[in-house]
Amino acid sequence: MARPMSGKAVGNDAERVRAAGAALDEVRSGMKLGLGSGRTAHHFVRLLGARVRDGLSIVGVPTSETTAQLAKAEGIPLATLDDHPALDLTVDGADEIDRAFRLIKGGGGALLREKIVASASARMVVIVDAGKLVDTLGAFPLPIEVTPFGLGATRLAIETAAGRLGLTGELVLRIRDDQPFLTDGGHHILDASFGRIPDPEALSTALSAIPGVMEHGLFLNMASVAIVGREDDVERLTR
Ligand code: A5P
Repeated sequence: MARPMSGKAVGNDAERVRAAGAALDEVRSGMKLGLGSGRTAHHFVRLLGARVRDGLSIVGVPTSETTAQLAKAEGIPLATLDDHPALDLTVDGADEIDRAFRLIKGGGGALLREKIVASASARMVVIVDAGKLVDTLGAFPLPIEVTPFGLGATRLAIETAAGRLGLTGELVLRIRDDQPFLTDGGHHILDASFGRIPDPEALSTALSAIPGVMEHGLFLNMASVAIVGREDDVERLTR
């Protein structure tokens, strides 16, 4: 079964802008910065662009083609991980974050590049609106990036692996414009509605062992700071 893009909650844009603005405090001149994808990260890119135009010297490594276009339009100097394999900081959004700073990402479909860039960074700061904070991950369908080749077999392998962990729920092929959605890397996405993921580490290990799975949206042990935009202020949480 397929479903249209995207299951993202509308959320609160003022909270997203507040979180993005506060993340500018984490940026220092000379930094090599991973630039995230999604609405909140794009607010950050726009605000960062204004700082760059005021003289801030940084170089950005975008996590998606969309972010690259936006950053370029903002006048942010861009590079790749081939130019700079080790980054100082990545600032990115999330679809869910729990109290242990475990994330679900990939609602916008950029999870593989997001994970590569975050893993290459000394620090990851997550910027979210307050609605993204959860006690248990999984209400947001987990995006799983898969190769188009062998999709049926990969889907079955995911169902089997999840079933062994007691997880059931629909795996839905993400659709955009009546076609299977294609990531920047030319892969498809299966959105897994498990409802609750009580053991994200076990699920992460199981999914990573499936050959057709390019990457999944569980980002564990990556974020060290979370900046949460609230109605009137921002909260900075550290791990
Ligand atoms: C992009 O693929 C995602 O990982 C985003 O970071 C995530 O979906 C959060 O996006 P919003 O800031 O738009 O909610």
